This record gives sequence, C-alpha cells and structure tokens, in this order.
Amino acid sequence: MPVHIVGHPLVHDALATLRDATTPPESFRRMAVRISLLLAAEATRDLPSVRGQVATPLGPADARRVSGGVVVVPVLRAGLGMLDAVLELIPSARVGHIGLQRDEATAIASRYYSRLPGDLTGSYVLMIDPMLATGGSAVAALDLLRKAGARAVRMICIVAAPEGIALVERQHPDVEIYTPAIDRGLNEHKFILPGLGDFGDRLYGT
Ligand code: PRP
Ligand code: URA
Repeated sequence: MPVHIVGHPLVHDALATLRDATTPPESFRRMAVRISLLLAAEATRDLPSVRGQVATPLGPADARRVSGGVVVVPVLRAGLGMLDAVLELIPSARVGHIGLQRDEATAIASRYYSRLPGDLTGSYVLMIDPMLATGGSAVAALDLLRKAGARAVRMICIVAAPEGIALVERQHPDVEIYTPAIDRGLNEHKFILPGLGDFGDRLYGT
C-alpha cells in the first residue's frame, strides 16, 4: 500500500500547532482547515481534468478544469473538521458521511450513521479522518465504501500510527494514504503517541 508522507513545511507548521496541548479549540479548528487544504492538494495531484479554453481579456488561453465525479467522505465526527477545506478546493464534490465512534474502553469502532452518494464505481473517492490509530475506524469506513462500489480510494489523515497503517494495508492494500506523520505507536488506551490527543474533543471543545 502506498503511504505518502507529506513533508511540506507549511503542513508541519500547522501540525505543530495541532499537537501543542495549549492550542485552544478556535486555533485548533483553523489549523485543521489549513493542514487539510495542503494535504488535500497533495492527495489530489492525479485528479482527472479536461482540457479546454477560456477567454482572457486579451484573448483565448488553453485551460484545464477539474472534471466531475469526486466524492469526499468525512468520518464523523472529527473528519468534519477537514471537510470545508476539501470543499473549498473541490466545490463540485459530492459528500458522503460515515459516523463511527470508538468505544472508550475497548477502542473498537461502531457505526451509528452512514449516508453515501449512489454507486461509487466511477468516482474519485477521498476519505478524510484526521487520526489513524488502531485502524479499526478506517477499515470499517473502507469496507462500506467498497460495498458502495468505490475502487480507487485515497485516505487523508493528519497523524497515523504504524498499527493503523499495518491494518489498512492488510485489509485494503490498494488504498493510498496521505499523512504528514507516522508516530511512535499506541498507548494502553489506543491513543497515538505522541499524537495530539483526542482530535474530536479538541476540535469541538468537548
Ligand atoms: C477518532 C478518529 C478516528 C478514530 C481513529 O474518532 O477521528 O475516526 O478515532 O481511531 P482508530 O484508528 O483506533 O479506529 P472517535 O471514535 O474518537 O470519534 P469522534 O471523531 O467522534 O471523536
Ligand atoms: N482518536 C483520536 O482522536 N486520537 C487518538 O490518538 C486516537 C484516536
């Protein structure tokens, strides 16, 4: 499975703020948008586009426009913090939602919501979830996307653990993961070390 490590200095500057325990929710949300814009730009380098022309004030110019068929899928709740950034880049994208919640004791994710656009067979699918820890949530979401017909799926996350990457690699070897950081591992509560804490709680101040 290709894992793309995004090394752009602006990505890592935003990640430093997200990791910082003193960052308040307001700045955390802003940084989540900034880093998601940069990661999404990187993950969509091969986005299909069509050639055409536009009229500039001084005459015709060759142009390329992104062609349709993009579906972005935030994994609720934390993935919502990345959605506006992706839609800013690809306003025509359709949006599917998958709600998953890890049990606080077992860290096993269970699904409480799913609403995807119809047949995803021909779609360019971007799944967004900031944290890839055990990989249980990612695999559950990817299973659903596969059932809905998705073929080439790209996953964008902000921090990944080796355990999560290994599980996705085993269950969905063709999924491409874009992340700026693969951290050390998981603690006894299945939180990423050093990670940044609970992304959803920090995003929403819960
Ligand atoms: C977080 C995160 C991922 C998941 C990663 O969500 O957003 O979806 O944990 O952990 P995993 O790889 O071990 O499954 P959480 O379940 O805390 O829900 P939330 O987004 O509502 O906060
Ligand atoms: N979910 C989070 O928000 N953070 C982690 O470290 C692991 C799962």
